[in-house]
Amino acid sequence: MTDNAEIDELLKLQKDINVHFYRYHVLDQPLISDYEYDILIKRLRELEARHPEMVTADSPTQRIGALAADRFQKVTHPAPILSLANAFSNADLTAWYDRIVKLDPKVAKSGYVLEPKIDGLTVVLRYENGILVQGATRGDGEIGEDVTSNVRTIKSIPLKIPVIEGSIQAPELLIVRGEVFILRDDFVKLNQKLEENGEKTYQNPRNTAAGSLRQLDSSLTRTRPLTILIYAIVQSSDPLPETQWDLISYLRDLGFPVSDLIERADSFHEVLKNTPRWIERRDSIPYEVDGVVIKLNDLRVAEELGFVGKDPRGAIALKYPAREVTTILKDIGVNVGRTGVLTPYAIFEPVEVGGVTVSKATLHNFDFIADKDIRILDRVLIKRAGDVIPYVIGPITEARTGLEMPWQMPKTCPSCGQEVEHLAGEVAWYCVNGACPAQLVRNLEHFVSRGAMDIVGMGIKIVEQLAETGIVKDVADLYRLKKEDLLGLEGYKDKKADNLIEGIQASKNQSLARLIIGLGIRGVGEVAAADLANKFNDLSELASASSLQLQQMEGFGPNTADAIVDWFARPANQALVAKLKEVGVWPLASQSSGPAKRWYLDGKTFVITGTLPTLSRDQAKELIEINGGKVTDSVSKKTDYLVVGESAGSKLDKAISLGVSQLSEEALRELIAELEKSNG
Ligand code: IVH
Repeated sequence: MTDNAEIDELLKLQKDINVHFYRYHVLDQPLISDYEYDILIKRLRELEARHPEMVTADSPTQRIGALAADRFQKVTHPAPILSLANAFSNADLTAWYDRIVKLDPKVAKSGYVLEPKIDGLTVVLRYENGILVQGATRGDGEIGEDVTSNVRTIKSIPLKIPVIEGSIQAPELLIVRGEVFILRDDFVKLNQKLEENGEKTYQNPRNTAAGSLRQLDSSLTRTRPLTILIYAIVQSSDPLPETQWDLISYLRDLGFPVSDLIERADSFHEVLKNTPRWIERRDSIPYEVDGVVIKLNDLRVAEELGFVGKDPRGAIALKYPAREVTTILKDIGVNVGRTGVLTPYAIFEPVEVGGVTVSKATLHNFDFIADKDIRILDRVLIKRAGDVIPYVIGPITEARTGLEMPWQMPKTCPSCGQEVEHLAGEVAWYCVNGACPAQLVRNLEHFVSRGAMDIVGMGIKIVEQLAETGIVKDVADLYRLKKEDLLGLEGYKDKKADNLIEGIQASKNQSLARLIIGLGIRGVGEVAAADLANKFNDLSELASASSLQLQQMEGFGPNTADAIVDWFARPANQALVAKLKEVGVWPLASQSSGPAKRWYLDGKTFVITGTLPTLSRDQAKELIEINGGKVTDSVSKKTDYLVVGESAGSKLDKAISLGVSQLSEEALRELIAELEKSNG
């Protein structure tokens, strides 16, 4: 890069970041995520280091907050409210350690404290003779806003110390610092309530907390579920503990809420060993955490190290990969599912979120796009948490330039061109053309998949080729395939063609339950198919069952029963059933080796909490039950495992306090796979 190009980039960054800064700190209307902001700042710092003559007083690297908005009284902080430098890897942490140990060899003996980096906003609380007299935001680090009456509405903040008579007394003057935030569960509940009242919902807990704290009307703040954790003392008239660890206990003894996740590491080596665990535990923390803060335990050493700009040298934040980022929506595509349901998806500028680069995300259904007013070229906020598939939260309307274009939902199926249809009262739109190629591909894919007929050697590519060339028009056609049909297709030579035909023919021995799964009837998964195969001897018997007869079976409600009857009532499906019989795909229940139930989880009790990445609650329950486990509603000493998803709430707290093991969805699957393996 030439010097000129670097300087142009530097100037643009200075200007852009200042705008982002103002939007974030003064307006509470950020256009980009915190993570993207951090990356911009990091780049600007690099460029400024190479071109120090360009570091002007108004460069965003020269301050840590924006000026306080005029609406509140100003508060001059007694000492600068410092920020934190960021690290993005263990290598960055090591570079930090090397730097400070060179400055002061005492660092090597100091020890460390690891704390959650709470994704909220800083407040500074002033106590005189144990009475809360003032609460202030950080502002620019020197002057903040007086939000005392709002802070008083936060229930976890002690208004008077000691809270309990007889506990330790507060110093005459005590100024503490903490982070105000909203628990994930409370955030979900708040949005539900707002939605019920027809009010606008919030995008994330952090912005909600910030907006709520800077409300001019504190009666509104009171209705927001704000909470706080305290982690530092800004000033005190009494001598302070010598270590961060003791300082945290001291704060706790005074009656302040402090995080119970804080831990000590005796050496820097131990810090590096512990960081992966902090990254893993992210989802099990009931509030948003955007990293882990590593602090020198010896506060005197930390103090002596001083600071660079507004970042103390004695502490650093290891940032997690961002889970929410913004990017530009380039287009909207439409997928046609197995049942013909149309699902729109976003195609955007590739962006890294939660550690992976993504360029597509689901938009759920057409109503979602209309309700959120998502337009092509919008800057959209996307989220990817844990191993969840990324999804679009909504557009950043403040970032609109006027070039954005509303999107029209297609009137015809993008695959076959047939007009799309809609059932009154349903959100979904369908392509009802039974011969639609896209549906055929999805149907074939499902039919041959591991959970259904499990045809070895049959992947998505060959399925697409067979459907596109018209060689296969329904699943029964697979069994009529001859070697010659395959030899004409890309990648299919002699042996490979033989193997595939063999795999297809071998699948005729699959059980009736698997064949029923393969038909892809709405609501009929592994468990229902196994029950049906227990009750009916073949597909013809099942085809003549009435809805009432089906509803008499345990676990079969009217929806599933009707879906089964409807499926067999369609002439195309009747023809398919006859064709399956003709080609010899006709398993009888009496030939099957008993019900498809497995008992790997026998005797184990599970509770499910939070939103799992891919399974719904019912599906997770089904997975556990089919493997012999039991699912109950509440955590007790008898619970063997808590299956934890995103936004887990009090059940998780209870499980932790009772020492109940936790499993992610992935770990649950692994557990079953392990048991399956060991049981042969
Ligand atoms: S210590 C000298 N500890 O992160 C003290 N900050 O990106 C410097 N934060 O402004 C801050 N959790 O608002 C510290 N356990 C924690 C924190 C924490 C969240 C916030 C704080 C700070 C920002 C820096």
